Amino acid sequence: MGENGMAGKRRRGWILTAVLLAGWLSLALEGCAGRQAPQKRYLRIGVVMYDVNDTFLSELIACFREDAKSLQTEERSINVTVRDGEKSQRTEDSCVEELIDGGCDVLCVNLVDRTAPSRIIDMAMERDIPIIFFNREPVKEDLAQWDRMYYVGSDPEESGVMQGELAADYIRSHSGVDRNKDGVIQYVLLEGEPGHQDAIIRTESAVSTLTREGVQLEKLSRQIANWNRAQALTKMSQMMTQYGSRIELVLANNDDMALGAIDALRQAGITEGSRPAVFGIDGTKEGLQAIVDGTMAGTVYHDKEGQAMTMAKLAAALYDGEDLSSFHLKDWTYCYLPYQKVTPENLEKFLER
Ligand code: GAL
Repeated sequence: MGENGMAGKRRRGWILTAVLLAGWLSLALEGCAGRQAPQKRYLRIGVVMYDVNDTFLSELIACFREDAKSLQTEERSINVTVRDGEKSQRTEDSCVEELIDGGCDVLCVNLVDRTAPSRIIDMAMERDIPIIFFNREPVKEDLAQWDRMYYVGSDPEESGVMQGELAADYIRSHSGVDRNKDGVIQYVLLEGEPGHQDAIIRTESAVSTLTREGVQLEKLSRQIANWNRAQALTKMSQMMTQYGSRIELVLANNDDMALGAIDALRQAGITEGSRPAVFGIDGTKEGLQAIVDGTMAGTVYHDKEGQAMTMAKLAAALYDGEDLSSFHLKDWTYCYLPYQKVTPENLEKFLER
């Protein structure tokens, strides 16, 4: 082999080495790029509440914020923005518009007027932003308009039945409730907003359960206090002026109104033995404390932790484009979390939450 031949071979050898090296380098670089952390994604959740001062809902949203934080991963951050509808559907619609304009991937909507979601649905559909309605259930026909709308809440009838059963048990085991010993329990109702699914249905099912349980009832009065403690105090004071010590039982659609009734009894200086038995629903922090203190006779736990976590997980799944079968949604839309009776045996468990 001559010099030329050797040089040619060497040259070819270098060329081959260079080509191999370049190939190896590019593979190595590609490999590095492949291992690079993927771009972080940001899930922006826009929440609107009918009223940020509502006790049960503010406790629920506090849980939701924590849950959203806990569902963050290295690849996906979650940012939650909460706006106040200030009890006006028009204001709430504007909040949603601003949230969408500011950038929003999933909406969580607690309607002011559960029969008027159209504007919000139209805006969300236009930008393909899924909506999780919660706590205030839109009517079926509205939810059927688009397949990217969901509802997270609880079954109001269940809570009413449980309240009725708790009250019936209490009346049976506390003969002193029937203070005038006429064999009939004189009662008053404190109700949530008219038109809210939880108000009408809780009242009806609590009363019919008591009757089914064999408790003889006489309704003295029914007052609307819009879920609100201060309003309940006023309404209860008025009923006390009218009926005095005849009131033996107070059935309130939620804990805040039950607490308002207890405030009224305290203000009027009614001593413990002469007070009516008061029942609520929700198991809010103050509601549970009133059970501990013995001022409230019973409540039904409204699973804010379960609802908040379901909403947070659903929002993340919708954003990630995951399959939703693990949510076991009824009609691919509804998720109802169960209520629980608060009893002396399980009270501790709820206080720890
Ligand atoms: C009910 C709850 C009430 C109040 C209301 C507001 O489910 O029991 O305390 O929060 O929702 O919509």
